[in-house]
Amino acid sequence: MNILYIGGGFVGTCSAAVSADSGHNVLVYDIDEKKIDKLGSYQKDRIESCMFEEGLYDLLSRNKERIKFTSDYSKVKNFLDKAHVVFMCLPTPEIGETGESDLSFYFDAAEKLANTLIKRQDGKQDNYIVIVNKSTVPIDMVGKTKEIMTQAGVKKFGVVSNPEFLVEGKAVHGSVRPDRVVIGGETEKDFEIMRKLYDRFYSSSGVKYIEVGAGEAEAGKLLSNYLLFNKLTQCFDVVGRTCETFPDLKFENVRKILITDPRIGNWGLYDSLYAGGSCFIKDSRSLSYQLQTAGKNATLVNESYLANKRQLELFIGRAERELDYNWEGKKVALLGLAFKQDTNDIRNAPSINIVNFLLENRVEEIKCYDPVANGDFKRLFEQSKEVKYFETALEALQDTDAVIIATDWPQFRGLYDSLVGLYRGKKGLIMDGRRMLQHKYNDLSREGFDIIAVGSPLLKAK
Ligand SMILES: NC(=O)c1ccc[n+]([C@@H]2O[C@H](COP(=O)([O-])OP(=O)(O)OC[C@H]3O[C@@H](n4cnc5c(N)ncnc54)[C@H](O)[C@@H]3O)[C@@H](O)[C@H]2O)c1
Repeated sequence: MNILYIGGGFVGTCSAAVSADSGHNVLVYDIDEKKIDKLGSYQKDRIESCMFEEGLYDLLSRNKERIKFTSDYSKVKNFLDKAHVVFMCLPTPEIGETGESDLSFYFDAAEKLANTLIKRQDGKQDNYIVIVNKSTVPIDMVGKTKEIMTQAGVKKFGVVSNPEFLVEGKAVHGSVRPDRVVIGGETEKDFEIMRKLYDRFYSSSGVKYIEVGAGEAEAGKLLSNYLLFNKLTQCFDVVGRTCETFPDLKFENVRKILITDPRIGNWGLYDSLYAGGSCFIKDSRSLSYQLQTAGKNATLVNESYLANKRQLELFIGRAERELDYNWEGKKVALLGLAFKQDTNDIRNAPSINIVNFLLENRVEEIKCYDPVANGDFKRLFEQSKEVKYFETALEALQDTDAVIIATDWPQFRGLYDSLVGLYRGKKGLIMDGRRMLQHKYNDLSREGFDIIAVGSPLLKAK
């Protein structure tokens, strides 16, 4: 089949790569010329400099005959003459802190698409085309998309919802082997086309292929993200806080008890300074906004958002509160800029608030390190007298007074020797927002470090 992707971000590109790998001919269109240039280079370092996703380069280079990238809409126009399916993979961020989704990217793309679709096959509009929404959207965007198409005069089309459940960092793996594929549609014809498109998954016994109504698919995505977000924030705010409050409780030991109950399960049972990223927060906020707009109570949904926000504020403020720590004039290593391991995505990353906090508190220097997100972070905070970037954790740690760990990159678990070596004879502060050094807290305190970790009470240098 010939498939157009509008929006070549994490979702669009990973999904497009898997479609090409399934044998379809794929064109990815994005307004971001630099991104398209890098993705379309089929070069590992250039692709990873804009989208660090394990396996993405391999998949793109393996299928480069079947997947093309463009920021030139005239190529889209030509492709639409023979396209069977168009995927919409546009951003749907929150407007400020209102909960309302900014649908302008989606609507702009849909209107432009509608005005092009009416011209396909010289205006004859002979071929039937399915518009598939993969963006996470308010309930009833399928209805709104149909309205846009109909008003523009588009004929022979269907619209379906196909929410994306990929996990960043594992997006390629998740797209090649999804647990489920959800199609929300209205007509058998559209379901049939989607089955053909996803034959690889439809005929696989390992994938749950779920066909439901369009609104149900949209609601299922929002609710799923809310439930996951809620689980994380409950773990941070209740389990983590309990372990932080009562001495002699080790988070990892309490966790062992909890996760052996299959009703609780082990997903999300860890402690962290914040659940960032582009989805959980905005999708929960959107759900709350929609419920409240419909005159319903959304207290519980709102509480997850507030609990998450509270974690970061509580964590950052602990040094001042518990140690009377004065940040002014200090040199601080900030390890981890991405919102989580295995990605360069810094959307809603806690590192952003940490840098702002440290700058407000007049530290002398923030020495940043992330294995893959330095470049993205530099776009927010340029290299300056106060904010510096390093190629290794060891370099960032040199000549510092304090260390803040903000991302769960596995390599940070092995920092004990470097920390002890570099701080020898000097008192230091470790703020571990991910419990990466939990196996060494006692040893580090004996070596002269004060330790503030999520899920632990303050451990003073011995
Ligand atoms: N990232 C995830 O983990 C994830 C998972 C599931 C669902 N989603 C949802 O999928 C959607 C896309 O997310 P993403 O992470 O891929 O976002 P992204 O920001 O990485 O990508 C979106 C892309 O759309 C492009 N774009 C914006 N306006 C455009 C236009 N008019 N025409 C063409 N391209 C345009 C942007 O340049 C950008 O490259 C969002 O609704 C998100 O909530 C994301």
